[in-house]
Amino acid sequence: MNRVITQVANSCRLWVISALLLWAAAPAGFAASPKARERGAVAFQTIGCMRCHSITGVGARRAPDLGSVALRRNPSQIRNQILHGGHGMPPWGAVLSNRQISDLVAFLSSCRSNEAPGCRTWQAPSAK
Ligand code: HEC
Repeated sequence: MNRVITQVANSCRLWVISALLLWAAAPAGFAASPKARERGAVAFQTIGCMRCHSITGVGARRAPDLGSVALRRNPSQIRNQILHGGHGMPPWGAVLSNRQISDLVAFLSSCRSNEAPGCRTWQAPSAK
């Protein structure tokens, strides 16, 4: 009897450990921390994305506004677009670090509204 209880307890422990491992191994884009999002927002403004893109109306108008990009694209599609570019967008895979790319994906995955400010964490020029 005691042996059965020990076996059940052991398999429960295994289950909990595997669940924790799975959670820890989840891709960064899906378990984005607020800090990663914030770093991504800063990167978006400083590395050149805004030469073409805007976020809820703030930025350039040479490419689609990304204020609601997460409604159209999932995190791995966003990552692929950044890595490989295409259709008028240059590829960034060789230019950015893995962390910068994950941060950008974390930021853009939070962009779900065209209503300003939406995911934009910086002020519109007129509001300054
Ligand atoms: C030279 C202009 C240019 C720059 C710089 C640029 N992009 Fe783009 N980007 C585009 C164009 C044009 C498209 C539309 C491509 C298409 O229609 O398939 C696009 C599409 C995208 C998309 C998909 C949008 C959608 O609606 O599906 C994402 C995400 C994106 N860009 C992110 C970025 C990020 C992040 C950066 C900075 C690292 C960046 N882009 C820099 C021109 C640019």
